Amino acid sequence: MMKCFSVSLASLWVLLALFSLSVSSQNISESGLQQASLPPRGWNSYDSFCWTISEDEFLQSAEMVSQRLKAHGYQFVVVDYLWYRKKVKGAYPDSLGFDVIDEWGRMIPDPGRWPSSIGGKGFSEVANKVHSLGLKFGIHVMRGISTQAVNANTPILDITKGGAYQESGRVWHAKDIAMPERACAWMPHGFMSVNTKLGAGRAFLKSLYEQYAAWGVDLVKHDCVFGDDLDLNEISYVSEVLSVLNRPIVYSLSPGTSVTPAMAKDVSGLVNMYRITGDDWDKWEDVKAHFDVTRDFSTANMIGGKGLKGNSWPDLDMLPFGWLTDPGSNEGPHRFSKLTLEEKRTQMTLWSLAKSPLMYGGDVRRIDPTTYELITNPTLLEINYFSSNNMEFPYITSSINLKHPGGKERRLKKGIHSLGLTSCSESKARGWSIESLNQDLERICWKKGLENKHQAPFCVHKRELQFRLDGVSMYQEDYRGKHQLVATDRMKFCLDASPRRKVTSKEFKRGTFSPCRWDSNQIWELNSNGTMVNSYSGLCATVEYIEANVNSGGIRSWIATGRTGLSLLSNKHLDGCQEFSSFLPLQSIKIGKMLIA
Ligand SMILES: *[C@@H]1O[C@H](CO)[C@@H](O)[C@H](O)[C@H]1NC(C)=O
Ligand SMILES: *[C@@H]1O[C@H](CO)[C@@H](O)[C@H](O)[C@H]1NC(C)=O
Repeated sequence: MMKCFSVSLASLWVLLALFSLSVSSQNISESGLQQASLPPRGWNSYDSFCWTISEDEFLQSAEMVSQRLKAHGYQFVVVDYLWYRKKVKGAYPDSLGFDVIDEWGRMIPDPGRWPSSIGGKGFSEVANKVHSLGLKFGIHVMRGISTQAVNANTPILDITKGGAYQESGRVWHAKDIAMPERACAWMPHGFMSVNTKLGAGRAFLKSLYEQYAAWGVDLVKHDCVFGDDLDLNEISYVSEVLSVLNRPIVYSLSPGTSVTPAMAKDVSGLVNMYRITGDDWDKWEDVKAHFDVTRDFSTANMIGGKGLKGNSWPDLDMLPFGWLTDPGSNEGPHRFSKLTLEEKRTQMTLWSLAKSPLMYGGDVRRIDPTTYELITNPTLLEINYFSSNNMEFPYITSSINLKHPGGKERRLKKGIHSLGLTSCSESKARGWSIESLNQDLERICWKKGLENKHQAPFCVHKRELQFRLDGVSMYQEDYRGKHQLVATDRMKFCLDASPRRKVTSKEFKRGTFSPCRWDSNQIWELNSNGTMVNSYSGLCATVEYIEANVNSGGIRSWIATGRTGLSLLSNKHLDGCQEFSSFLPLQSIKIGKMLIA
């Protein structure tokens, strides 16, 4: 099978994706057989309404999603938590006694906020309207059973028999299955786990999810069962119930505070998406917190793994852009996102490159043009759906010391050289020149942009190509003037423009030098105009010097392989493969934001 590798390095800007054709591209058939074969997209009410949304507001939002976002793959509209809570004085996220439950202790929509639910219709009419807009309907649900149902000690419904659950000659009730010692840590008055070892406990959970399916629900966002609140028994059983339903229901877990790939391995096959962080709000600290964990999940090969009746996706949470509310608030949208445009771009880029589900969180009825453009950016959405081999890319850095300009006391500052790839026609690709060290050794240095002469240039050493196939003059002809480039201290490691699939932490530190081999990814040619072109990609190397805090972790960059036919910035035919590259529209990102402390 023909194999093509993507080529990329971090440039000055935070994230850069280069695309190459992937012959073995993923199966993108939307036959319906595969659930969540692509990372789900949609809108969720939480960031803009907290729990307070009404039927009118929800349907207006669904209408807008249908008109403006559906064509871009945003398909789900999700009612977030506490749709069963009456919006009256005294009710708030952890209040007790304001919920609407049925005779079997199941949550039903608050008829004050969801008038179409009156008469036992639950969410059926809302789901119908959502479906008529060509969208899919999702709801948020909590773990186990509500404190309110436990206090009322409602009987358990045996949905297969249509009456009360009976076992050992008696009817079972909420108190028989409830585990008050396992109350939800972040909503202790609201919900607690049920004992899934008991037939009645399983019957209760089944009665919930069968009802959601009967309402026409297409996605459940199951809360307080993962991360710090892990309840593997409940996840496993709910997954089992969903797997035998006739209705496909996307199974989502949220939130995922302190989640690691090891923990997620137990659940990723049972669900379709699972959060890997705590809640993400409109703070740079929140965005920043996603870089490391996302890298770890991609390195562990968890992106798009096998999931419930299809695939599963690490979920980075909603996109808090546009008009928002505050966490835990009793108010609807009343303030604008505090993220700067650069921060939003960074977030959207990371979410896309990590193939996270994309759920817009702002008030979609009042979406501003900038936000709209960002969340419908065709390049990012293409990457989000159709790229493969997505991973954080180990950029080259070489820490150097330099004298502080004009400083007599020789104060030292740290900086990093960041090596990137760019189109050879760009002037920022020029800056390489050759230096002779002695008769046998030459090195190629980047000297451009050194504002003060105390700063060391970035240099690599030339290593002439060794031809393995003696007598094949064609090779010699082809590679005249071309060479491999080695780092001074590692003569056996060549500058490599291809990412490796598995990146160990050791390799990670080594940056993009890898063992020298016969590979066009490692072959470079210095042009007379000071550009240095890579034989495989046809792209040119460029170096940026970035002053960094001593403790900074540096720039983050991601890479992915694109699918056949993707046409972005440049293309080239090499080795029978088509190469595409794209620089994401991130030019205005400030370096300061990218130095992850
Ligand atoms: C993609 O999936 C469809 C439906 O499951 C199947 O018919 C087809 O053969 C698959 N294609 C590839 C390339 O795996
Ligand atoms: C430098 O030269 C190469 C090879 O001739 C050419 O492809 C490239 O566009 C030039 N780049 C610049 C910035 O002049």
